[in-house]
Amino acid sequence: MEWTPEPHELADLELLLSGAFDPLTGFLGHDDVHTVHERGTLADGTPWPAPVTLHLPVEVFPRDEITLLDPEGLPLAVLTVTAQEADGLTSGPVKALGTPEHGPFARLRRTPAQVKEELGGCPALAVTMRGPLDDLSEIVATAKELDAVILLLALSYGEAGPAVVRAALRAKDQLPDGALVVSVPLAPRAEPEIDLELREHVATAYGATEHIAGPEPVSIPGPPHRRGLVVFFTGLSGSGKSTIARGLRDALLELGTRTVTYLDGDVVRQLLSKGLTFSKSDRDLNIRRIGFVAAEAARHGGLAICAPIAPYAATRAEVREMVESVGADFLLVHVATPLEECERRDRKGLYAKARAGLIPEFTGISDPYEEPDDADLVIDTTHITIDAAVSQVLGTLRSGGWIR
Ligand code: ADX
Repeated sequence: MEWTPEPHELADLELLLSGAFDPLTGFLGHDDVHTVHERGTLADGTPWPAPVTLHLPVEVFPRDEITLLDPEGLPLAVLTVTAQEADGLTSGPVKALGTPEHGPFARLRRTPAQVKEELGGCPALAVTMRGPLDDLSEIVATAKELDAVILLLALSYGEAGPAVVRAALRAKDQLPDGALVVSVPLAPRAEPEIDLELREHVATAYGATEHIAGPEPVSIPGPPHRRGLVVFFTGLSGSGKSTIARGLRDALLELGTRTVTYLDGDVVRQLLSKGLTFSKSDRDLNIRRIGFVAAEAARHGGLAICAPIAPYAATRAEVREMVESVGADFLLVHVATPLEECERRDRKGLYAKARAGLIPEFTGISDPYEEPDDADLVIDTTHITIDAAVSQVLGTLRSGGWIR
């Protein structure tokens, strides 16, 4: 069987394979996770601070061999299952398949064995970094005192990874000769003490005799008018979503201060989601596709306008998450025109057909619409003009600073 783990699991996998998580050789099972939480050791008493786990939502059995793939489908390792819990937690040792590293600064992802060889038994002061180092003097003084080589471990997991490595390379230029830079994709742990302990373990694996944790990065988000934004309209067919969304797009193009990507529900279904039905799973896929494209546009500072029905709250929440995870903002606009009004208008004649049983699974008639309870703006178009509705959205964008 083949499986593509989540990004943080792949990062852990890389550290398991490189030896940076020494003495671990595989993903932990229930007993180890339990004792790690309870007393900071594996079940056999070996000190270990943090769970390193893999979730497989498909059933597997002891001795099954699972090929773990990266998101592009390259085989990275083989997991030999030792156990699986009901919740999918799957444990077992992993073995590398020798796929070459790729990604930014791949040449700096050296293994602990390579680094230790380079250190040749010299004392080493490791500095783990998740952002720029603001004060090098303490590091220089400590290294001098210990007569140690400085080892900059750039914790390069995630979107900010390349920037952390660049910060390490900049710092190296200002340090005494001989400092080493290594890119280590260690995913941060939620609890600060556990994160720190894990950094210490990794530093030790790299041969460090002393460890300094660099400062936590201060992320200063850009001003809203430069940040990516997704304006996501949701509402019943005929509620006025598309019309308001189009009006918003036109108004933004007239202003000319933002680049606009427009993803109307009906338009998306002509190409991006062509062939999908209106079953729950196809609707969810449709919304995820829209969310993916919108998040890509917003990642680069663009403004994306989406206007599908998006009847399911969980899927809308997923899109919000996708967008926020790229550092962009998400604005949910519920076009809350009541069903009676949508049906009275019936601009496309679909409600009549749905009532007659000619369109199955029609939202509002024979399929659910989950009203949002997290909308940033609610607009009922029953008694207002399109222009007034567009003005409301523009007002929200102005007051939030997204447009000026
Ligand atoms: S969603 O549920 O997946 O978000 P989407 O916005 O793409 O829906 O498509 C909705 C449009 O498809 C409606 O405006 C309507 O014109 C058309 N449509 C066709 N069949 C259905 C159906 N069963 N339910 C809702 N809309 C439908």
